[in-house]
Amino acid sequence: EMKDNTIIVVFGASGDLAKKKTLPALFGLFRQGYLPTDVQIVGYARTKMDKADFQSRAVSYIKNPDNNAAISASIQKFQDILTYVDGGYDDGSAFDALNVHLEAIEAKYASKERNRLFYFALPPNVFVPVAKNIKEHCYAETGVNRVIVEKPFGSDLDSARELLNALKQYWSEEETYRIDHYLGKEMVKNILVLRFANVAMGSMWDKTHISNVQITFKEPFGTEGRGGYFDSFGIIRDVLQNHLLQVLSILTMERPVSFSAEDIRDEKVKVLRSIPPITREDTLLGQYVGADGKPGYLEDATVPRGSVCPTFAATTLWIHNPRWEGVPFILKAGKALNEAKVEVRIQFKNTTQGIFNDIARNELIIRIQPSEAVYLKINAKTPGLQTRAMATEMDLTYNRRFADAKIPEAYEALILDALQGDHSNFVRHDELDVAWKIFTPILHWIDGQSGAPPKPVPYPYGSRGPAELNAFVERYGYQRSPSR
Ligand code: BG6
Repeated sequence: EMKDNTIIVVFGASGDLAKKKTLPALFGLFRQGYLPTDVQIVGYARTKMDKADFQSRAVSYIKNPDNNAAISASIQKFQDILTYVDGGYDDGSAFDALNVHLEAIEAKYASKERNRLFYFALPPNVFVPVAKNIKEHCYAETGVNRVIVEKPFGSDLDSARELLNALKQYWSEEETYRIDHYLGKEMVKNILVLRFANVAMGSMWDKTHISNVQITFKEPFGTEGRGGYFDSFGIIRDVLQNHLLQVLSILTMERPVSFSAEDIRDEKVKVLRSIPPITREDTLLGQYVGADGKPGYLEDATVPRGSVCPTFAATTLWIHNPRWEGVPFILKAGKALNEAKVEVRIQFKNTTQGIFNDIARNELIIRIQPSEAVYLKINAKTPGLQTRAMATEMDLTYNRRFADAKIPEAYEALILDALQGDHSNFVRHDELDVAWKIFTPILHWIDGQSGAPPKPVPYPYGSRGPAELNAFVERYGYQRSPSR
């Protein structure tokens, strides 16, 4: 449940994540009345600013393109709950000053209860000092304290364990909310309902009916100045090991005993533990090159010369359990592709031939973004006097079916969950551990830790990816619909 007497402290309040996601999401919740009564938001960062500077900076991150009067009025009110403290991240005395600031706000509360939510919009190299300093200088003794942190959580199994252990000294699992923002997306949350609230879906969800599954992430832009960060991570750490693997675990987990956070995450961990580390043979790597006036990856000034960092990866995972034995799960993700799209594509097996020839396979597509949709590709009789099958769709496109529904931003959904103490959509420590087990060997190979690193296949900026991709997915049984 939601607790009143809450302060939200945003560390890294002048940085990119706070600007793009955290502060706009807090505003979204505020405007819709979802923040606790009398909530205050305190920004903390190294940048020297006074309260008014921070307020005007924070509201400049909020979009109101049509100058909607109701939104403008909310922005005014939102501004009044914002304050700011500047200080270093490894400076205990600065955290003492922050604590004095928090206590001054709390002195106005009628009860003794004090709840503090600490949001780390920070680079990982300061996670540990900030975790330590909050615990030692800003921990509220009467009420709940929570921390929200977000990837990168290490860069392989060992470094992730090291980070987790370091943070564990100060913050318990119960107090920790690890964000993978894909778990806050409406369509990702919808997967559990589709699977477990529909006998029609649930009964075809296995190796008997499904031939292959693709989970695809496409972005139409390159690293564009973010190349320094990206190059030390690569597309696998940036997108596959976290976002796409999370989607996979929800797609394939067994039915949880309940919707409680621990029951859900127990099942996710169980299915992930049935996946062996991915192999070189099952992996295709790419890197974009300049095309049509758009710069190639290596032409990004922030990217080290001659880097072999993959900006595209397709890799196939196998789940060794009775439900999924033999079904390939192809995860693919790339930057600088032809479109923005994230989707799950489940391709079913052939129907018995004989009365029909050459008809398309059924496919269930869950489009996560843009334009959320679930649609099933089916065959139906061509309307008219002849009896002929045609490929068509049963279509649940959200903006048509639920035209008035407001789809929440992922960060709004997740911050609200954290305020309510619900861990269901946050990553548990053992989930993270098994995710790194699956990807660490291939990452070490790509990093050149086991000999010469592989050379990614070039693909043009704005294309569908490496030319080898079609053959790759066909190798795992994916069939393009017959053209008719
Ligand atoms: C982030 C990655 O985690 O997810 C980015 O670091 C990527 O590289 C982003 O662009 C994609 O998120 P979304 O919500 O835009 O799909």
